[in-house]
Amino acid sequence: MSDGIRAFVFDAYGTLLDVNAAVKRNAASMGEKADAFAAMWRSRQLEYCWTRTMMNRYEDFWTVTEEALVYTLRTFRLDHDEDLKARLLSAYFVLDVHPEAREALARLKDSQVKISVLSNGTNQMIKAALEAGGLLEFIDAAFSVDDLKVYKPDPRVYQYACDTLNVKPNQVVFVSSNTWDLAGASSFGFKAARINRSQLPPEYEFAGLHSEHRSLVELATLIR
Ligand code: 2OP
Repeated sequence: MSDGIRAFVFDAYGTLLDVNAAVKRNAASMGEKADAFAAMWRSRQLEYCWTRTMMNRYEDFWTVTEEALVYTLRTFRLDHDEDLKARLLSAYFVLDVHPEAREALARLKDSQVKISVLSNGTNQMIKAALEAGGLLEFIDAAFSVDDLKVYKPDPRVYQYACDTLNVKPNQVVFVSSNTWDLAGASSFGFKAARINRSQLPPEYEFAGLHSEHRSLVELATLIR
């Protein structure tokens, strides 16, 4: 599987980082609604990225993350709680990395094959979370869509990674837990590898998938 591969490009949020970590850390303030709250925050955050890109009204990922949080707090009638909002936002800035990520990246690390991150997050958000999670030492480069002011899955973002890494699309394994992102990457020409931790059903089948794995470590074990 590793024939001709010159780069692994990882999505960050949901793939290396646990997007539910901010809510988990504050779950006591939300009770049984915590899971639904986390799901709405994430879905609105992504929706705002896509609609802003289509409207040509880009604002960075930190801004849309806060906008999505404001809407979610209102929906759950928690918008009076300024302290909760501040705690959720500061937790989101440095999300936990998935526990398996370090072992997987260490296995994949090879001087011939570049390891990079391509994320909708800002450069500051990505660096802070990867550093806190001990992943920075395995990463050759981290790219933010903020350099282009359009969000994934716009093909210009995937092209940006190719140009900067000086590789062709079919020399890249793009790793993500987000099916919309895998569809964009595969349509662009990357080999899309899905990390499907919760055994969710197939989605965006028209775009095609190169491989599917239950964890990052399983991917690293199969490829190396
Ligand atoms: C990313 O890290 C938002 O998961 C998406 O680009």
